[in-house]
Amino acid sequence: MASEVPAPSHERALLELTDVSVTYSGGAVRALENVNLTVRRGQIVVLLGVNGAGKTSTLAAISGLLPYTGGSLDSGAVLFDGQDLKGKNPAARVQRGISMVMEGRRVFPDLTVEENLTAGGFTRSAAEARTSKDQVLGMFPILAERRKQLAGLMSGGEQQMLAIGRALMQRPTLLMLDEPSLGLAPLIVEQIKDFIVEINAQGTSVLLIEQNAAMALSIADYAYVLDGKTVARQATGAELLADTSVQELYLGIAGDGRKSFRAAHEHQARGTSQ
Ligand SMILES: Nc1ncnc2c1ncn2[C@@H]1O[C@H](COP(=O)(O)OP(=O)(O)OP(=O)(O)O)[C@@H](O)[C@H]1O
Ligand SMILES: [Mg+2]
Repeated sequence: MASEVPAPSHERALLELTDVSVTYSGGAVRALENVNLTVRRGQIVVLLGVNGAGKTSTLAAISGLLPYTGGSLDSGAVLFDGQDLKGKNPAARVQRGISMVMEGRRVFPDLTVEENLTAGGFTRSAAEARTSKDQVLGMFPILAERRKQLAGLMSGGEQQMLAIGRALMQRPTLLMLDEPSLGLAPLIVEQIKDFIVEINAQGTSVLLIEQNAAMALSIADYAYVLDGKTVARQATGAELLADTSVQELYLGIAGDGRKSFRAAHEHQARGTSQ
């Protein structure tokens, strides 16, 4: 009997969501229904969706933060490195290798840059944290220059770099970023993009939420579009960049941006116009 050849490690799923459903307010608000999503080792995976589509809820289900926002994982499973994360609190998930940069770059404004970084290494030994801090400061020269400055006095772009640097202090296997480019100037968005590519090249898998589809899809190995509380479309970054529905909704190219992604696709499939 032929034994199965194991998939090469870079092809194995690092993160796997199966039929994940999320509600808030004791079930009154349904945010996600049967979401299936996979991040393979070494990939940059992008999650797109209009406001309220459920992007942040997806990350909360992965990070374990749902219960802290009044939400609950009603059904489905989140597997990381083959293990079910059910019942694991956020700190335990960080320890397993999942770090997150939250929406709105929440740095500690009254702590210095350096103190913010130290706080980010909370599950690691002092020696490990020092090594990571040196690496992060080497990667982000602006943070090295401003290491003694209060984080609250930094510009929006600098705070975003700090938020990313702080998440890297755990040396994560998977880095999740929730709209890192929001409200930042194009030049800074370019820099953030370059950092994400560099972090990925150094071996960290990435799950990136973005409304800036052009930026995100340009670096995505694979991407998912959330609409109607579930995954409406999934394809490689290049395929989605060429998709007219994505162009209409996210790239500001012609068409009726208000119609749902799902409806647009059904019409395309039937060859009809609205
Ligand atoms: N703490 C909460 N309590 C109640 N409802 C919530 C809560 N958080 C999110 N929701 C609802 O769940 C749905 C999905 O929200 P979510 O924040 O995940 O979307 P999103 O795609 O991240 O949106 P945005 O682009 O605006 O950040 C929305 O209808 C939202 O109103
Ligand atoms: Mg969000």
